[in-house]
Amino acid sequence: MTETNLESLKIEAKKEIENSFDLGQIGEVFRKYLGKQGEIARILRSLDSLPKEKRAEIGKQANDFKNFINLKIEEKIKELKEKSGKGSGGKEWIDITAPGKKPSVGHLHPLTLIRRKTEEIFQTMGFSTIEGPEIESVWYNFDALNIPKDHPARDAWDTFYLKDGMLLRAHTSPVQIRFMEKNNPPFRIIVPGRIFRHEATDPSHEFDFYQLEGLMVGEDISAANFKAVIQEFYRRFFGKPVKIRLIPSFFPFTEPSFQVDMSCVNCSGKGCPACKRTGWLEMMGAGMVHPNVFKYAGLNPKGLTGFAFGMGLDRLAMMKYKINNIRLFHSGDLRFLQQF
Ligand code: PHE
Repeated sequence: MTETNLESLKIEAKKEIENSFDLGQIGEVFRKYLGKQGEIARILRSLDSLPKEKRAEIGKQANDFKNFINLKIEEKIKELKEKSGKGSGGKEWIDITAPGKKPSVGHLHPLTLIRRKTEEIFQTMGFSTIEGPEIESVWYNFDALNIPKDHPARDAWDTFYLKDGMLLRAHTSPVQIRFMEKNNPPFRIIVPGRIFRHEATDPSHEFDFYQLEGLMVGEDISAANFKAVIQEFYRRFFGKPVKIRLIPSFFPFTEPSFQVDMSCVNCSGKGCPACKRTGWLEMMGAGMVHPNVFKYAGLNPKGLTGFAFGMGLDRLAMMKYKINNIRLFHSGDLRFLQQF
């Protein structure tokens, strides 16, 4: 072994280290020069055969060479680790044992779930889903529903009026008229929709909420038919038989009119805070369609009968999911929404 040999070996080793692109290659270079059968070991073994004066010098150079390669290799390893950013050599490295990141999956709003469920049940009973505009005229919202101007009943709907004389519909009943203008009986429809009322909000009142209107018109439709349809609806919706009762009420567009109460699903009618200890929950307004309503919609009321109802969808959702504040629906609060 001569100095020139060592010098050229050093240049070669340096090149090999520089050209390594992963830990495997660096390992090979390490073995080639520093391993038991490597170049350095070979040089050290050959010292014996050298003349004495040369031994110390070559030995020292071999040592320097060893330190040099060690340093270069360390530097290269560090560089490779930094490059990959994963502490694993140049190649992309995946820890297949690491717990996965759970992607957050979107879901439907509770009111959408309730609306869909409600539509589905009524559809199986032969009702078609119809929609109508949220911005309405005074005619459809009031006049055509037999609510005359200056009649105190108009005050029952605290209405948002718009500057152009239109209004935000205060109930879904105007769609009764819109549908009957274009369709002849017999028919069964439901109308889910957003409505607006100029009211102060509290845990059970919002200024915009959702109703589901129902209208069934034909030749011999009776209040008994209405009761059967609604009872069946609740049975399917809550998954158990539910008692209902009809209480006389007043709406200008139905005669007779009822308020429909349902036995409290929370306490099965025993009395609890949800039903104010009465055992009953007020669920909707309803009645037999007033002949004037047929007339205003352009139908001949002779021989026509029908029932109509309007139920609050928010209230239904609150009962089903035991929600105690209607304002949560539009709060955008994820802690609330993520529960559905
Ligand atoms: N439109 C009425 C309301 O908003 C409810 C209703 C609908 C009553 C249909 C009778 C018939 O209060």
